[in-house]
Amino acid sequence: MRIVVTGAAGFIGSNLVRLLCAEGEDELVALDALTYAGNPANLDGLGDRVRFVRADIRDAGLMADALAGAQAVLHLAAESHVDRSIRDARGFLETNVIGTQVLLDTARAAGVERFVQVSTDEVYGSLGESGQFTEDSPPAPRSPYAASKAAADLLALAHHTTHGLPVVVTRCSNNYGPYQFPEKLIPLTIVRALAGEPVPVYGDGRNVRDWIHVEDHCRGILAALRHGRPGRVYNFGGGAERTNLEMVRAILRLTGAPADLVRFVADRPGHDFRYAVDAGRSRSELDWVPRTDLETGLAETVRWYRDHPGWWRPLLGPEYQAYIRRQYGGVGADAGG
Ligand code: NAD
Ligand code: DAU
Repeated sequence: MRIVVTGAAGFIGSNLVRLLCAEGEDELVALDALTYAGNPANLDGLGDRVRFVRADIRDAGLMADALAGAQAVLHLAAESHVDRSIRDARGFLETNVIGTQVLLDTARAAGVERFVQVSTDEVYGSLGESGQFTEDSPPAPRSPYAASKAAADLLALAHHTTHGLPVVVTRCSNNYGPYQFPEKLIPLTIVRALAGEPVPVYGDGRNVRDWIHVEDHCRGILAALRHGRPGRVYNFGGGAERTNLEMVRAILRLTGAPADLVRFVADRPGHDFRYAVDAGRSRSELDWVPRTDLETGLAETVRWYRDHPGWWRPLLGPEYQAYIRRQYGGVGADAGG
């Protein structure tokens, strides 16, 4: 089956392409614009079963070429970092909303048989101490990133209703694992801890996220591709809720860094308190369950970063340092970059 993966040089996209290769898929198009978050090295060693196409999903002509003859599109390309969306939302609307619409139109014209819109639990908004979101929870996004993803999901579902494109939407909780750009909480904490540098924690560190290993998410995306019902939404969650402070302290322990590297910094504006999803539909309809428990997966992830400084050190150049200074001010020492 010819499958186009967008955002294929990013964190989840590259893990997904790797999984597809391991499962024997041999007609893969890995499409990516290579923004700051896209890294061709993430696809190293996959050989000629993968055709890499550097293209922007907003470019209708390039999308028509890339999707010609494709049976499936797994759409992951996005601006994905909440903090960046708070500073400047424009790129989020251009890629996540307009880009998704361009891709939907192109997929329909190309006669694609399955379009998986890879989305996030953040579209549901924020929870208090208890409760879980189901697929029937209404979208109530609270950050520009989440709002752009919710818009994209609704456009994808509208394309199914209006034009009959076989769209499936997946919404997953926070991913961790190898090849994640060191701006999100886990990889940022790991690279800073390995360098003995202060680790920024927003607010009081009591916000909660539900962590899932990236490979479990990728297995879910493939289950949705193969068994998902068009027009339907599927939640994936790791069932591993932790406060941010618990998570940071666990990483400091695993890296052998001192606990006093934690720095409480100004809270994220509009910081969602807690996410948690009910993944019952994915369990019953897709036969999906997460396999990696957090303790094992986190230890493996820390080991991966420790063993691959050649992957992350080149990412910590002047552009990255400028971002860290803008985002964290005085805490922003430079993780060995
Ligand atoms: P990422 O930032 O690591 O990767 C995004 C990729 O998209 C990058 O390689 C980037 O170069 C590419 N891209 C950006 N704009 C593009 C454009 N206009 N055209 C083509 N390519 C473009 O993000 P990620 O964490 O791998 O997330 C992938 C997808 O999964 C996103 O849609 C995100 O919303 C979703 N998601 C992420 C998580 C998470 O925890 N990271 C959880 C649930 C859902
Ligand atoms: O829930 C799925 C979402 O998870 C995805 O859709 C997003 O693409 C992905 O970025 C992630 O969003 P979060 O905002 O939850 O992830 P992030 O790693 O940025 O933050 C996790 C938590 O840690 C959050 O409560 C904010 C906090 N945090 C984050 C950073 C970067 C800190 O305390 N300090 C930090 O420096």
